[in-house]
Amino acid sequence: MEVQPVILNIDKMEAYNFNTMETMDWKNLPFGYQKTDYNVRCYWRDGNWGRLEICSSEFIHMHMAATCLHYGQEAFEGLKAYRGADNQIRLFRLEENAKRMAETAEYILMQKVPVELFRDAVIKAVQLNERFVPPYGTGATLYVRPLLIGTGAEVGVKPAKEYLFLVFVTPVGAYFKEGFKPTDMVICREYDRAAPLGTGHVKVGGNYAASLLSLKKAHDEGYSSAIYLDAREKKYIDESGPANFFGIKDNKYITPRSRSILPSITNNSLMVLAKDMGMEVEQRQIEISELSTFEEAGACGTAAVISPIRSITDPQMEKVYVFSKDGKAGPVCQKLYSRLTAIQFGDEPDKFGWITIVEPTETNTISKYKMELKEIMHSVAANVKNYANKRAKNKTK
Ligand code: PLP
Ligand code: COI
Repeated sequence: MEVQPVILNIDKMEAYNFNTMETMDWKNLPFGYQKTDYNVRCYWRDGNWGRLEICSSEFIHMHMAATCLHYGQEAFEGLKAYRGADNQIRLFRLEENAKRMAETAEYILMQKVPVELFRDAVIKAVQLNERFVPPYGTGATLYVRPLLIGTGAEVGVKPAKEYLFLVFVTPVGAYFKEGFKPTDMVICREYDRAAPLGTGHVKVGGNYAASLLSLKKAHDEGYSSAIYLDAREKKYIDESGPANFFGIKDNKYITPRSRSILPSITNNSLMVLAKDMGMEVEQRQIEISELSTFEEAGACGTAAVISPIRSITDPQMEKVYVFSKDGKAGPVCQKLYSRLTAIQFGDEPDKFGWITIVEPTETNTISKYKMELKEIMHSVAANVKNYANKRAKNKTK
């Protein structure tokens, strides 16, 4: 499928983000939304995907009976763009996100976005907002959020006939404010995030709505996240909020197998890396009581990267499982984190073929030259000022 971008919908830049590479506080970015320059959109109408549109508005004009508003026809994805020390921008396992979005779409009867269109849209969105890809070494990244929604109007419970696929980006810092410092989590027995034969294995908005109350309660009680159990027996670990769970013991990387958890691309990558580091990998049910045998534990995901877990409290059972006594991440979590991020930022060769380089566009190259020229002008101006000051001083002597 040939995708030809067209420029449309360029609004007045009323809310233009005047921050530049030099003025953004990259090291203290929250994991939140901030306006960038453009998003890209594509519509499914009359049985076809249209052309990619570039848009500067943050808003969607939509029918009030759109199925995404009433019947939850909504899928989203999350991936990141990383700026390397070589200034190249890398995307991590982009095709896996494309495939997962297609699986989600299929499960809730939405129109699937072809992998090629997904890829083109993500790359375009990053290229157009290149100035928001945080500098190397700040720990910040550009979060990419692809979204697919049913926009066709229906009142009966049935799938829409029209869809909107949109990709926006926003620069972000760590998801857990503690960053790589281990945090305390709590087992949630009062609520389920997903039913055994429900939608937990796909990325629909409804799963997140179902988790809001339990996450809020966990946060209010001082925990960084809730840990969900299997909904049928309340016996096994499912996942940790918006991230998968893993435990480490006896040189093994152990992570739950469950139909109601999201198959995390980060977790899949960590399993590959763990094997590469000579560890055994087990993907199987994890009984709650097994937590007491883990030497380390962590939550992993695109937003969370690896968030080491200090302790897990099971309030109803009056038990606390501790994984870090000194408040520091364990050696395996540290090693996995270092290797994963080294690949993502391009510090380590991409031996698994996980990286897509985002080529700079002509406009980006021009703006880079402009920026360089600006820097040269600044330094010339500073030198001239220095020289003038020195001369003035000499004259007064
Ligand atoms: N589990 C849930 C519920 C999530 O929302 C996410 C984030 O996408 C993950 C796990 C981690 O998945 P990934 O590593 O693909 O980002
Ligand atoms: C991600 O890790 O990309 C996620 O989707 C988590 C998100 C809900 C913040």
